[in-house]
Amino acid sequence: MATLEIRDLHVSVETKEGAKPILRGVDLTVNSGETHAIMGPNGSGKSTLAYSIAGHPKYQITSGTVTLDGEDVLALSVDERARAGLFLAMQYPVEVPGVSVSNFLRTAKTAIDGEAPALRTWVKDVRTAMDNLRMDPAFADRSVNEGFSGGEKKRHEILQMELLKPRFAILDETDSGLDVDALRVVSEGVNRVRSNSDVGVLLITHYTRILRYIQPDFVHVFVDGKVAEEGGPELAERLENEGYDRFLTSAV
Ligand SMILES: Nc1ncnc2c1ncn2[C@@H]1O[C@H](COP(=O)(O)OP(=O)(O)OP(=O)(O)O)[C@@H](O)[C@H]1O
Ligand SMILES: [Mg+2]
Repeated sequence: MATLEIRDLHVSVETKEGAKPILRGVDLTVNSGETHAIMGPNGSGKSTLAYSIAGHPKYQITSGTVTLDGEDVLALSVDERARAGLFLAMQYPVEVPGVSVSNFLRTAKTAIDGEAPALRTWVKDVRTAMDNLRMDPAFADRSVNEGFSGGEKKRHEILQMELLKPRFAILDETDSGLDVDALRVVSEGVNRVRSNSDVGVLLITHYTRILRYIQPDFVHVFVDGKVAEEGGPELAERLENEGYDRFLTSAV
């Protein structure tokens, strides 16, 4: 079992007017096999948390710690973090013109495992994973995310998760912009990884609908750069009915 631990994390973002504090003391512990949902209003810092854990250079850690089994994640480069088993499915996946999906996946797998995957099983694994996610095999030859629809980009993120088998996966609004069928297909993908491995999942979402497919063990309400309340799945239902009003008034 592994533990991803975030302690009193403060993060600023570089702006033209100087450093702007976004995260103001985030505490969060995710163990292997657990699924944590993070919900919260727009601009509360959810993606900032995701990027900070993944190591995006735009975000400056001003204090606090992120550790994986006691190891200092913040001291690692982005690719070292990936090799340590951290995975981020981005809210807005970036296009990589000129790099095909199949090349990208194989390169990522090789970098993370430290050796190239055996060709025969790999080709089969990719085909099966694409099949499961109802992705046309033609996507393998297309440039990463170039011209992909919103939903296709999200499927491609989960395809990576299935093939790279991370220890901890952060899914930033993977459900946004999906039609009903795609939501089910993507959720099934996440659930496959959950049942085939001991992955710990941090699921950032605005909607309880995905939480009916992907049952969270814990729900955290993120407000103004930190966790304002924690509970079980029932907390998500309550937020759906009541919104964030009671947190926003208390924050003022
Ligand atoms: N370069 C920047 N300049 C100024 N403000 C920034 C910059 N980058 C991020 N921010 C601000 O940081 C805050 C947190 O943004 P973040 O993307 O983490 O929010 P979020 O909780 O993911 O929101 P959403 O639910 O809309 O995805 C926002 O108010 C955003 O405008
Ligand atoms: Mg966001």
